Amino acid sequence: SVVVPTATGDKGDDILSSLPTREGWWTTFVLYHGCWMTPQTARSVSLVRAQFAPRDDDVVLATYPKCGTTWLKALAFAITNRSSHPVGAGDHPLLTQSPHDLVPFIELPFRHIHPLAAALDAIPSPRLLGTHMQHHLLPPRVDELGCRIVYLCREPKDVIVSLWHFINKVIDDDLSLDFDKAFEMFVDGFSSVGPIWNHYLGYWNKHVEEPDRVLFLKYDDMMADPTGHVKKLAEFLRVPFTDDEVDAGVVEEVVTLCSFEKLSRLPVNSSGVVDRIGGRLVHNSAFFRKGKVEEWKNYLTEEMAKKLDAVVEEKLKGSGLTF
Ligand code: A3P
Repeated sequence: SVVVPTATGDKGDDILSSLPTREGWWTTFVLYHGCWMTPQTARSVSLVRAQFAPRDDDVVLATYPKCGTTWLKALAFAITNRSSHPVGAGDHPLLTQSPHDLVPFIELPFRHIHPLAAALDAIPSPRLLGTHMQHHLLPPRVDELGCRIVYLCREPKDVIVSLWHFINKVIDDDLSLDFDKAFEMFVDGFSSVGPIWNHYLGYWNKHVEEPDRVLFLKYDDMMADPTGHVKKLAEFLRVPFTDDEVDAGVVEEVVTLCSFEKLSRLPVNSSGVVDRIGGRLVHNSAFFRKGKVEEWKNYLTEEMAKKLDAVVEEKLKGSGLTF
């Protein structure tokens, strides 16, 4: 049985104690509504579902961890706020604040370390909000109200490489999780907020059902054509670029401002530590590693790549989603 801290920090809440558990990553995970997560995350997700009040003009930026959340948050912030914060301005908020502070995760204020939902309620509309929750765990009001969702996914082989680096760097300085072990758990569908294919499919299926409400993006495609994607994102966010802006190079300015090269070198993103995940300090720099596609080629053997490809293909079969 797992003792889960409550939202107020009290111990002894055993609401999740009957859930299946599994060891392997940095702590025991529970299987909550078909999704693996830490007990703390499960508790916060249950609180989100009970207490978070979506607004119809909320835009939810949803990702599986390590799929480019930080990048998407930066892009969406820069695009939607460009009338009050011109992209080329020397005092642009992205130059001094983390994308994660400008676009908060829905789940985080519901963790015991943070004050409850008031933080999200205080954000003026229209809100940009991040989440790592699987689609079926979002409060049903998100769909009922017609909140728009931007989902960003990534080639799963690159995700496991990025995830492994992140966990080793962040979770505990003395944790050194073997890559082969992490890979096997990932392939087995056992990873934080995974299985990853269920995470992808939940949002993919919603996108197929409601393409105008759920935009589905791939990191690799964004890397290949950032300007095209910035334009697409602006249209989806209902702030399309005007012809004058396009002529003035504003689209390219957004791409440059939010690029890995630019953001990763800013002091706010390259130094310091912060508790972003609930109870553990994270180096700000951990969110910026390489920012490349096909990094997996340096980590996975041919056999491993084939194995993960086969599982992903099988799990996504018939959905229309491919990698
Ligand atoms: P790598 O570990 O492969 O380098 P998340 O933001 O979801 O935590 O994902 C982190 C991944 O996105 C890391 O991948 C990180 O380097 C990459 N990343 C961060 N900022 C980026 C940016 N502005 N452009 C492209 N990739 C970025």
